[in-house]
Amino acid sequence: MTLASRPIVHILGLGSMGTVLAVDLIRFTNALVVPLFRSQEKLETFQKTAHSKIGLRKIYLEEKPLIECTVEKAECPETFGGEPIENLVITTKTYQTKEAITPYLPYITPNTNLILIQNGLGVLEVLKEEIFPDAAKRPNLFQGVISHGVYQESGFTYVHAGWVGMQIARLPWNENELIQKSSLVEKDSSENALVQLLMGQRFAKEFGMKHTTYQEMLLGQLFKFLVNCCMNPVTAIVDCVNGEMKDHCGPVFQSIIAECLDILKVAYKPLFEYKVKYHGMSEYPKLDDSILTTENMTKEVIRIGCDLNARNSTSMRQDTLYLRETEVAYINGYVVTLAKRLNLSANVNKTIVELVQLRLGLNRTRATQGDWRS
Ligand SMILES: NC(=O)c1ccc[n+]([C@@H]2O[C@H](COP(=O)([O-])OP(=O)(O)OC[C@H]3O[C@@H](n4cnc5c(N)ncnc54)[C@H](OP(=O)(O)O)[C@@H]3O)[C@@H](O)[C@H]2O)c1
Repeated sequence: MTLASRPIVHILGLGSMGTVLAVDLIRFTNALVVPLFRSQEKLETFQKTAHSKIGLRKIYLEEKPLIECTVEKAECPETFGGEPIENLVITTKTYQTKEAITPYLPYITPNTNLILIQNGLGVLEVLKEEIFPDAAKRPNLFQGVISHGVYQESGFTYVHAGWVGMQIARLPWNENELIQKSSLVEKDSSENALVQLLMGQRFAKEFGMKHTTYQEMLLGQLFKFLVNCCMNPVTAIVDCVNGEMKDHCGPVFQSIIAECLDILKVAYKPLFEYKVKYHGMSEYPKLDDSILTTENMTKEVIRIGCDLNARNSTSMRQDTLYLRETEVAYINGYVVTLAKRLNLSANVNKTIVELVQLRLGLNRTRATQGDWRS
């Protein structure tokens, strides 16, 4: 590849996920990686104090190496201008997406590849209804489901605690295009610049990349979503480390999952009918949705959340402890929004959202006014 055809990747949200991705893109591709900071002040701190360096400590490797990279170019809304954006990776928290993307809207065209790498669901609806209401102006949209575990050490240095991988798929703008043929994956593999960059041999191997149809990714995404709907809010509400609640959380997980599945089955009907409708059709990949039952998922959430990650503290619990906003509106709150649209009831998840907000409010009150218990 010549220098002239060097791909440019703008990263909106240089936090845990943005950094893990940026470091490997710099190391294993020829892309020009350009982080987009929220303000001129933050950009200057990055360039002058941190000398444009990002670091990743890979603690899952025996030697726990710290890998440092220098970022060639960085921008913020005040400095940005000129050419349309080719590839935009969104790695802000879900609730930060709209505010973060707004300054760059004039540079996003139908030729831009935009990939959301976030937990939860519901950002697509925000993009559709509030950010790109005009269908003719919408970019090519992709979703990445990332399973690497990363947290901040200090400044622009992050800790890569768990290496798992990432799955990407083209995210359909329209609900009636939820099921994709395998040929779409092949077409994007041979024609789309972002897919080619992320699926390039070296990067794909180092980052654990998989590229599939949307329905294959959605199945995994809903599985992960149900884990998040249980582990995140419950650990935040009762303020515990994952493994502590193992023997007591079954009933509440079952109530959350049963209600989520009732609603998701209506909202994502084509996925739940897939086996019946597309079985044996060679243009469509095989898919087994039988994992998404209340009984199986309750067992799986306890196994993955409370056994395999017994010593972990969820991001939502961390957010409430450090008095930060949580992503609950895009996890249990998304189920409540879907239910409203579909005229269904979501009282369990509505109460869960309210209790997370109560927990955060209470922690904030105690931080300013003291703890009445002591
Ligand atoms: N961390 C993990 O292990 C992990 C794993 C899987 C999925 N996820 C998901 O990935 C998403 C990102 O999580 P994360 O852990 O990477 O969050 P994070 O560390 O908080 O990173 C978010 C970044 O977005 C930046 N940002 C916020 N508003 C912005 C704006 N207006 N303009 C520019 N930048 C802005 C923040 O910068 P400021 O510091 O300036 O606010 C921060 O650097 C979430 O949906 C999360 O649930 C995380």
